[in-house]
Amino acid sequence: MTPSVPVVHLHADLEALSRAAADHVVAVVEAVLEEQERFVLALGGGGTPRRLYELLAGPYRSRIPWPRLVFCWGDERFVPPDHPASNYRMARETLLDPLVLSPAQIFPIPTDRPPPAAAAAYEATLRRLCAGRTTTFDLALLGLGDDGHTASLFSEEEPSAGSGEESAPWVAAVTAPPRYEVRDRLTVTLPALNRSRQVAFLVAGADKRPALRGVLDRQDPALPAAHVRAREALTWFVDTAAHGEDDAG
Ligand code: 6PG
Repeated sequence: MTPSVPVVHLHADLEALSRAAADHVVAVVEAVLEEQERFVLALGGGGTPRRLYELLAGPYRSRIPWPRLVFCWGDERFVPPDHPASNYRMARETLLDPLVLSPAQIFPIPTDRPPPAAAAAYEATLRRLCAGRTTTFDLALLGLGDDGHTASLFSEEEPSAGSGEESAPWVAAVTAPPRYEVRDRLTVTLPALNRSRQVAFLVAGADKRPALRGVLDRQDPALPAAHVRAREALTWFVDTAAHGEDDAG
């Protein structure tokens, strides 16, 4: 599979972006499940994907065979699972609880042990989930920070920038810069992320424009999001506020 050239979809606002991303998730799931039994979806964190998750659990619910999906996360803030900042809690409230899934389908990043042990445990889980596959996630959903981070990869020196050898770690415990409320993080690394079959970024808001342009126009190596690749397709769902164009495509 040749590395993917990013495809950018421009939308008027977060609602339109989220609906387009929901259509995309449906299409990717349908295509992949024609050739394999199970679909591994890595959920993104932060606030942008909230509306996508609500749509998937709501009007889009009947368009995906949910029992054939397993859910994991691209990163987690090191807080309890019921903490307001928890990416797991956000996904549980907006997507997972409404879908009434089996717990056996859901693989949260553990935060009940020291970060290095939690990273090792989650890595073992991911490697077990992906055993026998040439890819990690079938689709990884990502956001973009206004500083160009994605997942919890905050600088290009993050553990794992660089090649994707099999021996490279798939999960790392990292510390976010001081400006972030929750600094202890667990994140999937670039080698694991870049083994995804597909990656989809969701980016909304004018505050993201400099980082988005840095990634899309300049492929600025100082921005972690610029290092993300996908085996088959890398797709961006952005709104006009983030993109800077006057009209949605
Ligand atoms: C996190 C996310 C992070 C997020 C960006 C954008 O845990 O915070 O993984 O990478 O996607 O910071 O966050 P917003 O969607 O809230 O702007």
